[in-house]
Amino acid sequence: MQEANLALRLVAMESGWLKPFKIKVVEPISLPPPNRRRELLEKAGYNLFNLDAQEIYIDLLTDSGTGAMSQAQWAALMEGDEAYAGSRSFRQFLKTVQEITGMPYVLPTHQGRAAEHVFFSCLLSGGEVIPSNAHFDTTRANIQALGATPVDLPCPEATDPEADFPFKGNMDLAALEALLEREKGRIPCVMLTLTNNTWAGQPVSLANIRAVSELARAHGVPLILDAARHAENAYFIHAREPGQAKRPPREIAREVFSLAAGCLMSAKKDGLGNIGGFIALRSGELYERCRERLILVEGFPTYGGLAGRDLAALAVGLQEALELEYLRDRVGQVEWLARRLREVGIPVYWPPGGHAVYVDAGRLLPHIPREAFPGQALVCALYLAGGIRAVEVGSLMLGQGAKLELVRLAIPRRVYTREHLEWVVDTFCRIKERAAELRGLRLLAGEGPLRHFVARFAPLH
Ligand code: F0G
Repeated sequence: MQEANLALRLVAMESGWLKPFKIKVVEPISLPPPNRRRELLEKAGYNLFNLDAQEIYIDLLTDSGTGAMSQAQWAALMEGDEAYAGSRSFRQFLKTVQEITGMPYVLPTHQGRAAEHVFFSCLLSGGEVIPSNAHFDTTRANIQALGATPVDLPCPEATDPEADFPFKGNMDLAALEALLEREKGRIPCVMLTLTNNTWAGQPVSLANIRAVSELARAHGVPLILDAARHAENAYFIHAREPGQAKRPPREIAREVFSLAAGCLMSAKKDGLGNIGGFIALRSGELYERCRERLILVEGFPTYGGLAGRDLAALAVGLQEALELEYLRDRVGQVEWLARRLREVGIPVYWPPGGHAVYVDAGRLLPHIPREAFPGQALVCALYLAGGIRAVEVGSLMLGQGAKLELVRLAIPRRVYTREHLEWVVDTFCRIKERAAELRGLRLLAGEGPLRHFVARFAPLH
């Protein structure tokens, strides 16, 4: 199927959109003075994971669990049923997940990586190969911890930060077919991450999901979705894919799930929850194995590491995340920031993805070599210049596998206004003026696939 011409279909900006909520509860924030920011950064070993959140003005570290809940979610929370077994809140959660995914078997987990751990420990015994458009870092680490090999097969357009292609999250179908042939018998499932967080939050087209599903089925291998941002992915299909504009995101999501045998979900993203996750499956046999493991590491299958009130809030949030007005505002806000940054001359990965703007630090700071972590240097500069916290997605996070030196500005859901994002644009303008003066960093401590969480650095002079 022909992909859409993106230039004609960029989401919400041309038509404008109306913000579909007003603010009821406020949380004070402030910008610490420049000297204090310098001092705190040094104390944190130039790793912003080590900073106290109250020392940050605009926190774009992640969109995970950082969203604002709606009044309907807070109301549901008050009605949470904390029964150990068979709680009413679990019933509501189960009904919602079954309705959205069409999958009968559902296990709640405390977050996405717990779903990964439970699922993969029931599927893998060592030596397997698991292809994906790109695994998220915890998925990769969980697969590796069980002695299997995660393989990323992004489409060729993904590696070009400028290519005007609407679905850069797609999987490389030829590469998948070749791998399925070559590794016959060693591939227990194929995965697709919706949207593709590792590749700039890029969406996967319905055509690509259908093709991956068909290829997997032809080889007798189940397709498992990483559905953390499935609603944003459904919105991009609605907005960008030919023939899909009339279908609401909920209906598109339902078709997407119908193409898979199961899914793993971090509900801290498109569940609009501050905590939570789940596994949903079509196979009763696999469900029973996962359920046994879940009881061991998470809890009884009707709460799975969550309070009843969390399940109740998620039952509402999962539905709200699929509303068209919400998604248009959400994705439109990310697009607004990406466009503004591009207008002031900041190289951003294009087109913008669903949950974050990815700045190309390699191009903004070409004088800093990869070994000196240009992305992390930009992350530090953002804090010093504007009290902004972002995260490196480059040589520090991905090691030798990094193709680009990106910095992710993840936008929490329903939290910041355009004024907040204007401050981010202003801060970038000030950094750009002095970009040539920025220096890289020397890694002092931190190793392994999750080193970015614990690394410490010294600035190079
Ligand atoms: N899958 C994807 C695509 C993710 O982005 C994440 C988390 C997970 C799985 C794991 O879920 O955090 O609930 O255990 N991503 C966060 C981020 C941490 O900042 O992108 P979790």
